[in-house]
Amino acid sequence: VVTDKGRLKIWRDDPSIFVREVLKATPDPWQDEVLKAFPYNQRLALCASKGPGKSTLLAWIAWNFLLTRPYPKIAATSISGDNLRDGLWSEMAKWRERSPLLKELFVWQKERIFSKEYPETWWMSARQWSKSADPNSLGGTLAGLHADYIMFELDEAGGLPDAIMASAENALSSCKEGHIIIAGNPTHLEGPLFRACKTNERKLWYVKEISSDPEDPLRSPRVSIQWAKEQIEKYGRDNPWVLVNVFGRFPPSGLNGLIGLEEVEAAVNKRYREGRI
Ligand SMILES: Nc1ncnc2c1ncn2[C@@H]1O[C@H](COP(=O)(O)OP(=O)(O)O)[C@@H](O)[C@H]1O
Ligand SMILES: [Mg+2]
Repeated sequence: VVTDKGRLKIWRDDPSIFVREVLKATPDPWQDEVLKAFPYNQRLALCASKGPGKSTLLAWIAWNFLLTRPYPKIAATSISGDNLRDGLWSEMAKWRERSPLLKELFVWQKERIFSKEYPETWWMSARQWSKSADPNSLGGTLAGLHADYIMFELDEAGGLPDAIMASAENALSSCKEGHIIIAGNPTHLEGPLFRACKTNERKLWYVKEISSDPEDPLRSPRVSIQWAKEQIEKYGRDNPWVLVNVFGRFPPSGLNGLIGLEEVEAAVNKRYREGRI
């Protein structure tokens, strides 16, 4: 299959054009901004409220990388295998269906997406890690990957352990073009997403914060404004669950080192029930 070389270069240099021309989608403004930034930044962090289109953006960038780089390798992971399947991996299938070009060039399978012509050396792979694993085997989830064109996409990165990042960082040391993209809700006051956004590591990252606050003119248009207003009315603007899920902001550090979404949700439900009795 021959694709016009000039088009490939345009799509590589500006993935927002690729998304419009190949995937026939219109990125939201924040997605547009990140798509344009992608080729020129090694490390991208998307810190967001619920539902603005993070996994979709990861899928678009992965397709862009697979189409426009030679012999690329991409590893994708998420907080759980189920989450990866339901999120990023199904977005990969959805957008492939939209493009006769991608359908002709690539095979989509449950754990692997690869070039028909070079199945062994041109691919994206779904990686899983076990929550009970020790740091060494966690690092193994992404270990051993080396290629001139390499990318790591870590979705739902809020709760990802630091060990996962070490091997990704390793691969960046020996490539021509390498990227790490992490995306998630700011649920934890530790881990890769927190460090990228809230510590002095931030200068290494292109950080995009996405809110659904009804009062923010730059809010994600994809999250229902009605839903956002209801959450704020019910729980208040200072509520940690609202901070994380509506505003895409880290809860205050006073709330004890670690705040899993589950714990916050449990606390909120409890308060809500008590309030209604
Ligand atoms: N710019 C867009 N155009 C069309 N559909 C989109 C766009 N961005 C996201 N979507 C769709 O919106 C839904 C939610 O997006 P998703 O990426 O799953 O959000 P998140 O990962 O932030 O929770 C998905 O069905 C996705 O395909
Ligand atoms: Mg998602």
